[in-house]
Amino acid sequence: MRTPVILVNFKAYPEALGSKAVALARTCAEVAEETGRSLAVAPSALDLALVAKSVRIPVFAQHLDPAEAGKATGWVPPEAALAAGAVGTLLNHSERKVAWEEMRDLIGRCRQLGLEVVACADDVAEAETCATLGPDYLAIEPPELIGGDVSVTTAKPEVIAKAVARIRATNPKVQVLCGAGVKTGKDVAKALELGAVGVLLASGVVKAKDPGKALRNLAKGLARAR
Ligand code: G3P
Repeated sequence: MRTPVILVNFKAYPEALGSKAVALARTCAEVAEETGRSLAVAPSALDLALVAKSVRIPVFAQHLDPAEAGKATGWVPPEAALAAGAVGTLLNHSERKVAWEEMRDLIGRCRQLGLEVVACADDVAEAETCATLGPDYLAIEPPELIGGDVSVTTAKPEVIAKAVARIRATNPKVQVLCGAGVKTGKDVAKALELGAVGVLLASGVVKAKDPGKALRNLAKGLARAR
């Protein structure tokens, strides 16, 4: 995934399910094409294959299971995401936590398959411990700000700055994203100023009256920080 980046998590919002997921992903791809900026999407598991077929921007799974490919009814192992066209996955999102051992094993398996991992952490301490596992990215998202109207870059800039410093000290290969309440280009520029290489967001785009307009505004933040 090219950085700096805006990664849009579709969660299971009704506004981004089924054909709406494809439409929203296409809007993200149009804005990426138009602005030359890096945008990526994380649709629901059931929409991933169709979205990956419909756009040329990176498509991530929202979660993966530590099950072996094979006799695993109802599980979504890394091999299934790869076969569906994903380039990576979110892992340990505050809305879908995984056990430490599962995260460790999944990061190893994803690396072998060439899938990028964006591990999520609620706070600096969790970010620091997750960094020891060597995911490609660590997204710091204070749960209390998720879905809210105040961006983490405004409400808790010190948390991002501290996470960046601790992650770099623990594993300099791990790149930092931040999320929770991110809605504008200003929020994006501030995130990059604090040392992140991009943002992870959902409601600011998925629930926007005009997602294209919201994305263009957010993408300006990537430009402004350079
Ligand atoms: O994964 C992104 C997410 O948890 C942030 O959500 O709605 O605050 O942008 P939101």
